[in-house]
Formats: sequence, structure tokens, C-alpha cells
Amino acid sequence: MKGITRREFINKSSVVGGAGYATLFALGLIKAGPAKGLNVENSPKAKGKKVIILGAGLAGMTAAYELGKLGYDCTILEARDRVGGRVWTLREGSRETEVDGQEQICKFTNGNYLNAGAARIPHHHEISLKYCKELGIKLEIFNNVNDAAYFYSKGRGPLNNKSIRMREIKSDFRGYTCELLAKAIDQKSLDLPMSPKDVEKLLAYLRAEGDLSPDMFYKGSERRGYPLAKGATGKPIYADPYLLREILYSGFTHPAFHNVGEYTYHQQPTLLQVVGGTDTLPKAFASRLEDIIQLNAVVQAIRKTEKGVNIEYLDAQGKAKKLKADFCICTIPLPVLKDIPNDFSEPVKAAISEIEYMKTGKIGIQFKRRFWEEDDKIFGGITKTNMDITQIFYPSSDFLAKTGVLKGYYNFNRLAEKVGDLSLKEREKLALDQGGKIHPQYQAEFDNAFSLAWHKIPYSLGGWANYSEESRNNHFQTLLKPDGNFYFAGEHTTYLTAWMAGAFESAQRVVENIQDRVVKG
Ligand code: FAD
Ligand code: ALA
Repeated sequence: MKGITRREFINKSSVVGGAGYATLFALGLIKAGPAKGLNVENSPKAKGKKVIILGAGLAGMTAAYELGKLGYDCTILEARDRVGGRVWTLREGSRETEVDGQEQICKFTNGNYLNAGAARIPHHHEISLKYCKELGIKLEIFNNVNDAAYFYSKGRGPLNNKSIRMREIKSDFRGYTCELLAKAIDQKSLDLPMSPKDVEKLLAYLRAEGDLSPDMFYKGSERRGYPLAKGATGKPIYADPYLLREILYSGFTHPAFHNVGEYTYHQQPTLLQVVGGTDTLPKAFASRLEDIIQLNAVVQAIRKTEKGVNIEYLDAQGKAKKLKADFCICTIPLPVLKDIPNDFSEPVKAAISEIEYMKTGKIGIQFKRRFWEEDDKIFGGITKTNMDITQIFYPSSDFLAKTGVLKGYYNFNRLAEKVGDLSLKEREKLALDQGGKIHPQYQAEFDNAFSLAWHKIPYSLGGWANYSEESRNNHFQTLLKPDGNFYFAGEHTTYLTAWMAGAFESAQRVVENIQDRVVKG
């Protein structure tokens, strides 16, 4: 890491949500999550202390769950008629009305579902795994990388506008780059401080990595597949590789093809998913917190009192109510919190209004037949494209069932804004038109669809906190400290933004902070 300071390195590697955490962790600047949980057995019990928690997402419910173990008297106020917040699974009958009034009712059948928010759990998110284990949640593999899925690059190059198996492009690209490096090293055209033995070893590696011929040329590879038409007794026929120029001039260097998936720490295999839908996890918390969660309770004002907090809200009957407590844990997403009258300090108000959120959208499409499995032999994984839809996710469960639901797009930023601005019918048409270029079966097999733009979903108004370097420097630390008797939790108060693990970690932090304060008196 010559010529670059640790701070510069951290900043550079924080571009993708959550990547900064990995870096900090790797450098030993922060500790891994307290996966063993709080030491509740040995901690003094805080009898009679009242805590109001705003939001029954994972952060709010985890805080209530852990505070309950310590003897606190908690009440959770939740605006929606369901728990889970951004952990939301769409099933038959799920409803949503976006802020501009577009209402939908989900028509998936046969037990099909789509995780509209959280879907996958990285193997190293210890704290998410810990809570799954503690609550008896069953997990299965989430296939995040499937070389049988497609790359589809729209454009005017020789390999554009057709579905190409990911394994072909990956193998060819790797082969050519290994060949080029091998030649450069052999011709000593790279100024490398290497001994002849080093060179010999590196060449051996490049040959293996790129599947090069003994004379160090890339001539294609068995890795890119071959037709099976002749059956097991016919001699395999290998197709010629694409030319390097063809790959380069067909747009495959576009970030859509390599900025996620196994290229990021949080998406490397193995990933896991909750059997039957991620909402099983918040529902498991809720079943342990039944008496303390008030649904349809919309927070209207957040006030400081001399010794504690006073929360004004509308209850399920629309009646104005007030609730006082010693402490409040606020997990309301910042774009929502911004418009709730409050007594927060100026630095907190600035943090709330200046930390931006990711715009992101998804569509679930139910098809009458799982053609991606039956015809294309794609079992889980993700197809990637430079079209607006960005990616198509294939389900990692219920293989070869009668029907199935695909994630027909999952996009971000400008594309999510553009697609989210369309009417529901137009979003559906866009997903079918663009996805139909990759899978011609779309038209005949389409059944129904449900789309959402998270930045237009009430009580969320965004996907996740999307810190800039500036807002991380200026505001992040403010949210980690209490403001009087108010504490802030939620994925936005961590370096694990965009992950359930962030919500869990944040809950444990505030519980520890409150307990520390109460114990010290
Ligand atoms: P929330 O879940 O948003 O909870 C906040 C709660 O506050 C909500 O229930 C809300 O209704 C409530 N609230 C809002 N306003 C009010 C009000 N006025 N009064 C009362 N209550 C109010 N994580 C993963 O681990 N894996 C993934 O694959 C993954 N994918 C994701 C994909 C998408 C599209 C999105 C959006 C998120 C994804 N995440 C994923 C992130 C994960 O879902 C979140 O980090 C986590 O659920 C956030 O929990 P939270 O408690 O901080 O916030
Ligand atoms: N963590 C989110 C996902 O996995 C962004 O899609």
C-alpha cells in the first residue's frame, strides 16, 4: 500500500455501501460484531426504566428484545400494520401504496414470494446468523453467483444484443489477460523486481489461471462450456473463444458486469437466505414482543422533557396520544424523520437532513413456467445487463416447481429513479421488454408482477443510507452519541449500511450505551 495513507485507503474502498466496514475490520480499526450477544446474565437488571422505541424494524425489535432481557419496560411504536420495515416479503395479498398514490395488491400464487428488501445473508455477518440461530430461523443457500446465468450487453459491438453465458465471457477475458501478462513478463517488458524463479512460478500460475496452452496462448477453454447435443458418447465440441477485441468493444467493461457479486466482500460465496422468505425473521422477533409492539402507531412529534422523552403519535384509531419515558431509541429512517417535528440538537438535525439515501427499485414477476430452469438450466444466480433493469435474479429455492417468481429488475440511483417514476404498468412493460430480450420466453409465460420503488414507499423513503465521504466525516459520529435521552439506531448508524447486520449491530450498541448509563446512575 505504498504512497497511500490508511485514511485514503479507507475512503477509496468505501464507495459501495458496506465496503468501508470490511476495510476497517481488516485493518483492525473496529471490532467484529459482539456475536455472542450482551452478557445479560451478569448485568444488573434495570427495573422500572421505561424506553420508547420508534419503529418495529430489525433495529427497533432487537433493541426491545435485548432490553427486555435486562428488565426494561419497552414500548415499540410502529407506523405500519406490519413489523419488519425494510425486511418485507411480498406474497399473495401484500399491499402497498407509494407516496404518489400508486396502489398494488400482490397476485403471486402457489406460495411464491419475493423479498422486496433484505434477501441475502453473507456468511461473515456473524450477528445476523446469531439471531437466526437464537430465534430458530432456518437458512438455505442463496446462489449469488451462477456462471450459467447471462451477460446481456446492449450496444453496437460484435457481441451486443444477445444473451451470452457468463462463463464464456469470464473465461475468455481471464484467458486473454493471463496471456498478455505472461507475454509481457517473458519479454521483460514489465519492470518487475523478480528473480527467474519468481517469473517461473508466476508463469505457472498464469497458465493455470487463464487455462493457457503450453506455449502460453489462450485458445479457448473447456471452462466456457460446450454443446451437449451429441450426448455422453459423442466427442465434445468446443466453440472458439470470442476475440479480446470483440469483448472489449461490446461493453463488457461496463460496471454493470463487475461491480457487484463475487467482486465485493459482502457478496462472495457463501451467501444464505431465510427459508420461505426473510420476513420470517422479523415475525420471529415480533412473536416474542407481542405485548409491547403497537402497530399503526404513527409518530407525529418527538419531544424532550426535563428528565426524559415525550412522544406524540396517532394510534390505530387515528386518535392523538402522548407517551412519556426515560429514554427513546429512534430507528426511523432519516428521510422520514426529517419531516417529524422534534427537539433534537442542531448537529442531529443537520445529520438527519444531510445524509442521503439510495434510490432503489425491484420488480417481482410471476411466470407460469420456470423456463429459466427448464430451458436455460439456470438455478439461482443473477443475470447482468447494462439495460435499465440492471439484473435479473433467479430464485434459489423451489427448483423445478410449477411456477416461479423472478426478480425482474433490481436497480439503483439514476436508473431506479427513472424506472420508479413510471406508472406500474409502464414499469411492468419495461421489465418485460428488456428482460424479454434476454429470455424470449417472457412474453408467453408472463402471469403477473409487483414493483416497488423504495424511495417512494411511505415510512422508508429510500433504500439505505448512502454516505458520501463528507457526510460520513461530518455527521456519522453525531448519530452514535445520545442527544439528551434520545439514542439513534438503525442501519444508517453503522458502516454496515444496506445490511440487516447493521440494524442488529446498531441495536446492540444502543442497548449497551443505555445500560451503561443506567448502571452508572
Ligand atoms: P427499518 O427496517 O426501515 O425500520 C424502521 C421502522 O420505522 C419501519 O418499520 C418503519 O415502518 C418505522 N417507521 C417509520 N416512520 C415511522 C413513524 N413516523 N412512526 C412509527 N414508525 C415509523 N440486508 C441484508 O442483510 N441482506 C440483503 O440482501 C439486503 N437487501 C436489501 C435490499 C433492499 C432493496 C433494501 C431496501 C434493503 C436491503 N437490506 C439487506 C438492508 C436491510 O433490509 C436493512 O438494513 C434493515 O432491514 C434496516 O433495519 P432498520 O431497523 O434499521 O430500519
Ligand atoms: N445489501 C443489499 C443487497 O444485498 C444492498 O442487495
